[in-house]
Amino acid sequence: MKNIIIINGPNLNLLGKREPDIYGSQSFDSFFETLQGDFPQFKLDYFQSNIEGELIDKLHEVGFSYDGIILNAAAYTHTSVGIGDAVKGISTPVIEVHISNTYSREEFRHHSFISPNAGGVILGFGLQSYSLALQSFL
Ligand code: DQA
Repeated sequence: MKNIIIINGPNLNLLGKREPDIYGSQSFDSFFETLQGDFPQFKLDYFQSNIEGELIDKLHEVGFSYDGIILNAAAYTHTSVGIGDAVKGISTPVIEVHISNTYSREEFRHHSFISPNAGGVILGFGLQSYSLALQSFL
């Protein structure tokens, strides 16, 4: 059974409450339960942190043993050389995910330090972006 982890960055713990017009009104915990039901062929883990170093530590921890990583680094996507380097330095394939279409938003969201080293990028499909990323591991 493939072991896949979803790693969410800062402010994504507020999903459901945060800017629902952009991010929807469902909490990630409730969406994660649905995902587990939809993909019984995967052992799914979930990690969220608002702290850049904790996200890097988690990437190092899982990045040589897991079969896949789905990463929404949130705002750190656009700022963090460190998370970009971590993605480059590990061997587990990383799919970069965003809930919103970052290219239809402010210009500072158009650049990603993750994308050059990601196996693929999925964005703009709401929470379904995570389901599409999981499908890529089927
Ligand atoms: C986000 C997009 C980022 O620009 C933003 O900072 C987020 C969420 C998304 O999933 O759409 O926090 O990664």
